[in-house]
Amino acid sequence: MKVLVIGSGGREHALAWKVAQSPKVKKIFCAPGNAGTMAVAENIPLGATDLKGLSHFAGQEKIDLTIVGPELPLTMGIVDEFEERGLKIFGPDKNAAQLEGSKVFAKQFMDRHKIPTSRFKLAESPDQAKKILESGEFSYPLVIKADGLAAGKGVIICRNVNKADEAIKSIMVDKVFGDAGKRVIVEEFLRGFEASFIAISDGVKVLPLVTTMDHKPIYDGDKGPNTGGMGAISPSPFVDEELFDDIMETIVFPTITRMLEEGRKYKGVLYVGLMLTEEGPKVLEYNCRFGDPETQPQVLRMVSDLVDVILAALEGKVLEAQIKWSQNPAGCVILASGGYPLKYEKGKRIEGLKEASGAKGITIFHAGTEFRDNEYYTAGGRVLGVCASEKTLAETMKKIYRTIFKIYFEAMHFRRDIGVEKEEWI
Ligand code: AMP
Ligand code: GLY
Repeated sequence: MKVLVIGSGGREHALAWKVAQSPKVKKIFCAPGNAGTMAVAENIPLGATDLKGLSHFAGQEKIDLTIVGPELPLTMGIVDEFEERGLKIFGPDKNAAQLEGSKVFAKQFMDRHKIPTSRFKLAESPDQAKKILESGEFSYPLVIKADGLAAGKGVIICRNVNKADEAIKSIMVDKVFGDAGKRVIVEEFLRGFEASFIAISDGVKVLPLVTTMDHKPIYDGDKGPNTGGMGAISPSPFVDEELFDDIMETIVFPTITRMLEEGRKYKGVLYVGLMLTEEGPKVLEYNCRFGDPETQPQVLRMVSDLVDVILAALEGKVLEAQIKWSQNPAGCVILASGGYPLKYEKGKRIEGLKEASGAKGITIFHAGTEFRDNEYYTAGGRVLGVCASEKTLAETMKKIYRTIFKIYFEAMHFRRDIGVEKEEWI
């Protein structure tokens, strides 16, 4: 088989790495890929949102399966585009990807079907938004979310009315996220622990993956602005078997079933971002794709062939693919460029990477990297994900952190508390 992986992050390197282990697969392309995917795939200079270029390439190369990493091509309709040309592609179509593409759609969908989420109101103008704030219906902190995709920056937690006014002005008046900010959701702030629950669906049935926990804020102790994710561990220390079943029953199954009933058959990856609250799990957001960096520890734990699982889902038989997992936990720590998630510099030479990559039990997935003149350079905010899977979480994290100290680039930043067991976990 020939497989095309679309995207250029750590998630895509992890997916390509796992796909490369399939005996069915003879050749992998990655578009556009990074310096890490070069080791397992041929990088193609086509952007992830060049839908026409990508479908043309897949047709010409007779690609047997395309796997989409990021959300933007999915919400733009890459699956519709490929399917019209008779090309096999894994992901939800444009209508189904609305679950991530529009927060208004997602909240109203959950409301219609009593899927647990935080209380919210929709505002379609700055005046309406202000009225909601003035009504006192939501106490502070409250959360304001731009409707559309905003590169992970459209969620603003407001501690007081001044911050809320500022958020509304920047999203709805100054339009910092463009049309994504035409409408906003004002919602109740939830307290608890976050968990990422990721499943594969064939549109009717659902196969859950092992649980993970992301670490979104940039600094230790969950301080500072949110990022795409600074590290992840699997399993989540908070999701036991009972909670797992509860999440499947009250959230994951109803989502897939109700989407089908609404004529939006959802096949692909369903990623549910959850807040585990005192009242039970509640949905913070839906994503229509694999997580980044959640995928990295997940593929390390997956014993089964990922290609078999995806093919089964595409054939409408996802439950026939029973996934085998390693019992060992896994972890991933992200090395980021100084300044990320705000302004940062690129083009820093990465030292020690070859030695670190050779460390026993270590897998390094590249994200924003570039290879030229026989050297690696930084090329993005999240640069590398250093990963391992050992018998215990403590051993796993020790191995990862010992390896990180072999790697250096100017202004390199990473969290030192990923997977470090805290009192509140016990
Ligand atoms: P989202 O893109 O909706 O997941 O939001 C990004 C991040 O903002 C989440 O991972 C949470 O850390 C935080 N967040 C979003 N909504 C809420 C909420 N209602 N209460 C507390 N935190 C939230
Ligand atoms: N790590 C968060 C995400 O993939 O959305």
